[in-house]
This record gives sequence, structure tokens and C-alpha cells, in this order.
Amino acid sequence: MSNGQPADTSRRNWVIATCAAGGVAGVATAVPFFETFLPSEAAKAAGAPVEFDLTGMAKGEQKIAEWRGQPVWIMRRTDEQLAALDKHDDELADPDSLRNTDGPDAINPPFAAKNHWRSVKKEYLVLVGICTHLGCSPGNKFTPGPQPSLPDDWAGGWLCPCHGSTFDLAGRVYKNKPAPDNLRIPPYKFLSETRILIGETDKA
Ligand code: FES
Repeated sequence: MSNGQPADTSRRNWVIATCAAGGVAGVATAVPFFETFLPSEAAKAAGAPVEFDLTGMAKGEQKIAEWRGQPVWIMRRTDEQLAALDKHDDELADPDSLRNTDGPDAINPPFAAKNHWRSVKKEYLVLVGICTHLGCSPGNKFTPGPQPSLPDDWAGGWLCPCHGSTFDLAGRVYKNKPAPDNLRIPPYKFLSETRILIGETDKA
């Protein structure tokens, strides 16, 4: 394990280097890239927790932080987006986030994944922006409705460009897709109403 990253396989690391980097760069045209740099670069490389300021985030907006060399998405969901999460459980592979709930690299850590919105505070979703198939970076597809590469009843979410896995606005993967799991929720906790700390949680 280097740079404090999870014990990924060498294949996955290679894919992240060659695929996810390109995908993240694409997202950066739409949202600010790596919004927060409070710890030193050296501390971040060593895996230190990273603070992120939610101040000023509009509903429907996504921003990106960096933690342990990985993109971490922070999204403030709208009321409509949250309401839509209750309407397509039968289309999801793990709607109740029951898989991979243990350990420091849990996909669905119990502190955040006990509900359909998969977050500590309902509006604010925090996810590792790396596809659980081979590590590409899914792209934003927040607009609901028919569009290329997506079903006509699309409710908004993310589409992985590499092999077509789709995720809803809680990061839950749809059935019959290459990605085996929901997008990972990293450890995080709220330091105040407007600040979160990514990389640490005090809840079991
Ligand atoms: S890497 Fe995302 S679907 Fe294959």
C-alpha cells in the first residue's frame, strides 16, 4: 500500500492512472477541480484527512475534493433528486447498500449508508468518484429523461464511459452492469454545519 491508498490490484491502479485521470479532467470543465487544499501537499500524499467547505454550494451542484490521490465528489442534491431515490429500487443491484459494509475500505460504511440517500446529512452526498468496475471516472448525467446511452426513464446520476455502468444520485449501481458495487462512500464527518472532514469518521 502506498500513499495511504486502499490495497487495490495493480490492474486497477493502472486503469486509474490511464483512464480515471482522463475522466476527471473532463469533469473539471464543468465543476471546479480539487476545491480544497487545506493540508499540505505532502500531508495529502500521506493520506491525511482533508477538510472541505460546503459554503455557497447550490442545490444540484457537484464539487470535487482530493483525498489519498482520489477524486471525492461532494454533491448537494435537490429535493426532487432526493425524492427520486425512492422510486427505482427494483432497478438497482444493491439498493439498500448491504454489500461490503465492513472495514476501512468499505463501499457502504454503516455510518452513512443506512438509508436510500447514503449520506450523513440528507442533501450532501460524498462519494469516491471512481467506478467500482475497473476504475474509470463516471461522468455527470444529472438531467433526467431520455438521452443517448441511457434509459428513457433515467432519473439522473452518473454514467461510466468505459463500459457503460450507471449509478443513481446516491451512487448506487444499476443492475446488469459491469460495475459490481455502488460507488464508495469514503470515511467523513461533519465538523460544523458547513465543513466536512474527508478521511475520518467517529461513527461506527
Ligand atoms: S470502468 Fe466503469 S464500467 Fe468499466
